Amino acid sequence: MSFRAQILGAAAGGGLPQWNCGCNNCNLARSGAILSQTQSSLAVTANGSAWAILNASPDIRHQLSQSRSLHPTGLRQLPLASVLVTNGDIDHVAGLLTLREMQPFTLFATAGIHEVLAQNPMFDALNSAVVARETIALDTPFELAPGLTATLFAVPGKVPLYLEGEQVQTDLIGDQTVGVKLETTGKTAFYIPGCALLNDDLRARLTGADLLFFDGTLWQDDEMVRAGLGQKTGKRMGHMSMSGPDGSLAAFDGLEIGRKVYVHMNNTNPVLRPDSAEKAQAEAAGWIIGQDGMEIT
Ligand code: MLT
Ligand code: MN
Ligand code: ZN
Repeated sequence: MSFRAQILGAAAGGGLPQWNCGCNNCNLARSGAILSQTQSSLAVTANGSAWAILNASPDIRHQLSQSRSLHPTGLRQLPLASVLVTNGDIDHVAGLLTLREMQPFTLFATAGIHEVLAQNPMFDALNSAVVARETIALDTPFELAPGLTATLFAVPGKVPLYLEGEQVQTDLIGDQTVGVKLETTGKTAFYIPGCALLNDDLRARLTGADLLFFDGTLWQDDEMVRAGLGQKTGKRMGHMSMSGPDGSLAAFDGLEIGRKVYVHMNNTNPVLRPDSAEKAQAEAAGWIIGQDGMEIT
């Protein structure tokens, strides 16, 4: 029994390349000069035979076909115990619609996130006789998969884009954006694909962890604005950037964590280019740049 995590998708919403994006990275990915990355998802297991998928991305069909560990083991038999979603964003829930083929699994989320799904009748395609929806309270450990205990906790963030009103609070603390603590015998891993800021609560929680998967959306807060792709900053999207005084490189500096892996990277992020100075800088600070298919034991 040993913990394994497999990055099914290392990119943020849109993926690399994004269908309508002509930025440098997307063009490089289209030409094959850099690797393409699919949208945000992580698979974890404690026993190698029952997996949990953290976030169901719109690319899940392709991701499952690429992951040998998650191939069917018999007729309509899959080594999948559960799916957990950490917010209601489209890049984290749209893949649920792909999982509608009468495949039993447990769908874990907080009450707030289940409510968002329940508001959309399309998700009823997940037949409740087959897919059990379990509501998880914050800070309450539960069995995510055999031998694997998970605990959800609030992370500063915002409501999904499609539920934004006129005023948007981007560092809301509640049950709509959560992080996941994963525990197997004596080891602790964290999965936090979206985080607006590293507050004292999070800093205390993460100290001493063996492994962390963390929000790597942007390198620089205004990187999409600079690239001419729109007006949105990372802060406005509820994501802390990697660089700068408020960035995750600085925030995690000196924090005692075994291995730190960036996931949920936007296609504009320069760390997605293997030869970039930014990737070298992140690696020098002890970070691993996540990639599709990367497995960590
Ligand atoms: C995000 O991570 O900010 C969202 O996934 C954006 C989106 O919904 O496209
Ligand atoms: Mn996202
Ligand atoms: Zn792009």
